[in-house]
Amino acid sequence: MNFDLTAEQNMIQKTIREFSEEEVAKGALERDRSKTFPKEIFQKLADLGMMGLPFPEEYGGAGADTISFAIVVEELSKACASTGITYSAHISLGGAPIHLFGTKKQKEEYLPLICSGQSLGAFGLTEPNAGSDASGTKTKAIEQGDSFIINGNKCFITNASYAEFVALTAVTNSDGKKSEISAIIVPTNSKGFTVIDNYEKMGLHASNTTELVLENVQVPKENLLGERGQGFKQFLQTLDGGRIGIGAMAVGIAQAAYEKALAYAKGRKQFGKSISSFQAIQFKLADMAMKIELARNMVYKAAWLKDQKRPFTKEASICKLYASEICMEITSQAVQIHGGNGYMQDYHVERYMRDAKLLEIGEGTSEVQRMVIAKQIGC
Ligand code: CAA
Repeated sequence: MNFDLTAEQNMIQKTIREFSEEEVAKGALERDRSKTFPKEIFQKLADLGMMGLPFPEEYGGAGADTISFAIVVEELSKACASTGITYSAHISLGGAPIHLFGTKKQKEEYLPLICSGQSLGAFGLTEPNAGSDASGTKTKAIEQGDSFIINGNKCFITNASYAEFVALTAVTNSDGKKSEISAIIVPTNSKGFTVIDNYEKMGLHASNTTELVLENVQVPKENLLGERGQGFKQFLQTLDGGRIGIGAMAVGIAQAAYEKALAYAKGRKQFGKSISSFQAIQFKLADMAMKIELARNMVYKAAWLKDQKRPFTKEASICKLYASEICMEITSQAVQIHGGNGYMQDYHVERYMRDAKLLEIGEGTSEVQRMVIAKQIGC
């Protein structure tokens, strides 16, 4: 067993850490306040070759591994979680299903758009009445000649305003009891396709979260992604990879909160000494350091298993569940250590706490992760 990063992973970490500190962190507070999407940052990430990081070089990617992807998500999220989630969804939800299930022709058409950053990646699963019960999809795709005609709604979709296409699930056949769910690639400029960007969110204000409305959207049948009727399973498999991204985001936000709390505790004097000299504060900081270490190790383990092409569904859920819950706890404790200042935006920790909450919900709630783990251990 070897816990060291490889030379390539170290190089990617160094590059993205410097980039995040110099280019991403400084505007994070203002972007959160003004709800401004970090478009220029993604242009620069494309210039750095990060937008297609884990995808094959023949499609414009960098052919890197999943641990490298997790490192990039962690560093971006430490600086700005809105940037982190945009990147994580772009790769693990937008690009991954095309890479995993696309035909050669589909990969040639869509992956270069992802790898160059010309299109951000987005994926459409969730619907108003199909959240945790993701198989309850109501969006319908009816065959008409060589086309599918799609009608339905998707909600909480990351990145769609900046995507040239979205892979989404739709019912392609139903016998009234069981629905045949397929995945279909839909260009966002299709007639009848509307992207609505007006959610009022708790946090992650600089990320793009949208509703999709499809009214008689016509796409050729060749836009079917993977095997007909396998769409739900394909998307669950895609989410396994996405959950590593959410785990990495959680580690990044928690690390940022911990560093801010440690620095504040050392500098803040009450009762004649630094509050970091009080055991009550020391124990909080020690718990933070321990839990971040555990979460990061679990994220890397899930990523490593994926890279070894071994089953990783259980580990992806464990890392997502554990990291998101400790992130919520750590960001809340970081606010606590900052006292009244922590409640103020300028100290950043209240933003971390608001951003952390989404991680216990998106890409499968904590309750869904426990269902997945329970099933995996044979309950
Ligand atoms: N990979 C591949 N196949 C899988 C799988 C996986 N990880 N997990 C299950 N399957 C297969 C099963 O083997 C089963 O196959 P058979 O029918 O052949 O037996 C099939 O898929 C159905 O599995 P389940 O019976 O376990 O499915 P279920 O209906 O009970 O649901 C669930 C299980 C865990 C609750 C699942 O629905 C789930 O994960 N829900 C949460 C969905 C989610 O995370 N949504 C957030 C999406 S994020 C988003 O949309 C917005 C964005 O941009 C971020």
